[in-house]
Amino acid sequence: MACGLSSRGKVAVIGAGLMGHGISIACALGSYDVNMVDTTAETLARALNRTSADLAVLVKRELVTEEDAKSALARIRTTTSIADAVDGVEFVTEAISENMASKKKLFRDLDRLCPGEVVLASNTSTFRITEIASAVEKRSRVVGTHWWNPPYLMPLVEITKGAETSERTSSRTRQFLVELGKVPVVCKDHPGLIGVRLHAALNTEAIRILEEGMATAEDIDTTVRMSLGLRWAVVGPFEILDLGGLDVFLDAYEHLYKELGDRFKPPEIFRDKVRRGELGTKTHRGFHEYTSESIESLTKRRDEFLVERLKELRSSGN
Ligand code: NAI
Repeated sequence: MACGLSSRGKVAVIGAGLMGHGISIACALGSYDVNMVDTTAETLARALNRTSADLAVLVKRELVTEEDAKSALARIRTTTSIADAVDGVEFVTEAISENMASKKKLFRDLDRLCPGEVVLASNTSTFRITEIASAVEKRSRVVGTHWWNPPYLMPLVEITKGAETSERTSSRTRQFLVELGKVPVVCKDHPGLIGVRLHAALNTEAIRILEEGMATAEDIDTTVRMSLGLRWAVVGPFEILDLGGLDVFLDAYEHLYKELGDRFKPPEIFRDKVRRGELGTKTHRGFHEYTSESIESLTKRRDEFLVERLKELRSSGN
């Protein structure tokens, strides 16, 4: 994260709450001048205080220099006027409260105020982009960018393409996010996108385990922190399946399906892969394809990462 002196361009962030002020920090640290908007001067003053405090933590933890934090703060301008905020910008991110009528009204205004090439992105976590875009004339420029909290720290941003989002819009969005040092992924316009849906599956199962009296909340949290969570920071679910062997996991999940019911029913593509003998790294093909070298580098990446985490855990007394 380095915030050079020259500006990459100008963007607007509408809504200066938890997400909006954090997205503004990410854009400013990525050397964009930011017009941050909210409904009142008081809200904007609070957002700026929050912004200074967050930047101070990044300086204290040595993620950014004091100089970069200062120039990032200087790049953020506040206004209550949408028309003023979007003047001369190339990218607008909406992060107002999760209310469909308000979002549609805002997008109608943005569509009227911004020249055709300006991308209009929504940070909605639950609404479909296609429905938000239905409020505007130029639907091809509307896209979803689902940031994770806190936006200036979490690398992932999920890009959602609505029914009419153009290739130009999604590639410009990807380029913008990469410029900010983010890691974009692309997803169809579906409830929960990728991350929230995966998170919900794990959380609902954790709550069921608690509800059935199988374990305490503390032990369920410890299970995730000391096993799944540690590993997930370096290998994703498909890499874990491939490394462990799809046949091994399928046997286990067929058993859970028999014992615990439909929610564990293995998806057909999983059974198909095992039928075809695509068992993961041991057959060089599972959900991913492998060479001997890529298997070695995946295992090395996992183990080196885990060794570092283990050292940190030991030094912090865990
Ligand atoms: P928030 O309540 O902290 O902030 C929303 C801000 O928008 C408020 O300051 C409000 O005054 C302002 N606002 C409302 N209507 C406005 C308008 N018409 N023009 C200008 N400003 C307006 O909400 P938060 O948590 O920042 O969420 C914002 C959006 O981001 C929502 O769509 C939410 O679903 C999404 N989101 C939230 C995440 C989270 O962890 N809180 C994570 C990812 C997405």
